[in-house]
Amino acid sequence: MTQANINQDARSMPDLLLVASKLSKRFGGLQALSDVSFSICKGDIYGLIGPNGAGKTTLFNVLTSLYVPESGTCNFMGHQLTRLKPHEIAIVGIARTFQNIRLFGSLSAIENVMIGRHIRTRAGVWGAITRNKSTRSEEAAVEQRAHELLEYVGIAHRANDVASSLPYGDQRRLEIARALATDPTLLALDEPAAGMNASETVVLRRLIEKIRNDGVTVLLIEHDMKLVMGLCNRVLVLEYGKVLAEGRPAEVQRNPKVIEAYLGAGSAEVAVGVSA
Ligand SMILES: Nc1ncnc2c1ncn2[C@@H]1O[C@H](COP(=O)(O)OP(=O)(O)O)[C@@H](O)[C@H]1O
Ligand SMILES: [Mg+2]
Repeated sequence: MTQANINQDARSMPDLLLVASKLSKRFGGLQALSDVSFSICKGDIYGLIGPNGAGKTTLFNVLTSLYVPESGTCNFMGHQLTRLKPHEIAIVGIARTFQNIRLFGSLSAIENVMIGRHIRTRAGVWGAITRNKSTRSEEAAVEQRAHELLEYVGIAHRANDVASSLPYGDQRRLEIARALATDPTLLALDEPAAGMNASETVVLRRLIEKIRNDGVTVLLIEHDMKLVMGLCNRVLVLEYGKVLAEGRPAEVQRNPKVIEAYLGAGSAEVAVGVSA
């Protein structure tokens, strides 16, 4: 049995949250994902890395039903994700943020979070708009929860600011608050540190740890290698849509194929620097 098998077995079967099997996605002549298989356990901070164009965002889009794969399956707590509609993804317990931030720019920060919350209310978004009598107390609870979430991600002082006026790092945290408003079991973050400076990245790292410690499993696409290797307990490396490596960060970092993909051929000796 290989070391990789042993580590896989150490993450016990009842804790499996998501099992992706042989997912493939093509765009015209481009094979963006080829037979990608991996599994995420409850409590993981699961890293997804790979050079630009490797297929990371495409994989997120397949997991969140924005794209239908040509083949493969993805089981999430008994749900077959590839058969769900995009709006059903949040209902089964997956929330995500986007590489290119997607907020309602002209709405306030708190309104953005409240919109995320409405999939968990009886009245839904329509009830919130029409604001009939029966929905008002529910609406107050939604606003209260949205405030708590803004506090949780550290931007409560921005509650009434228009989303597009927030600094970049705060917009990323607002997206996380909006995603958390759906009460996810799995939170998928697509390059949350992009555009953040070093001190903002440290705060983000603490936030991701806090989210996991509070019981939400995290799937993280990130370019910042130091962040990934320090934060994730498991890492999947994609290259040209294929799985290049999977395992614990220390193993993945030592993998010559990974070193070559990141630093170019013949760079294995200098790769220790990647770990920082
Ligand atoms: N909607 C799309 N239509 C056509 N090609 C796409 C589409 N989305 C992604 N691609 C292509 O698929 C490949 C993987 O892209 P992506 O998943 O965004 O990579 P990553 O997130 O790892 O940088 C790239 O070559 C990209 O140009
Ligand atoms: Mg991407």
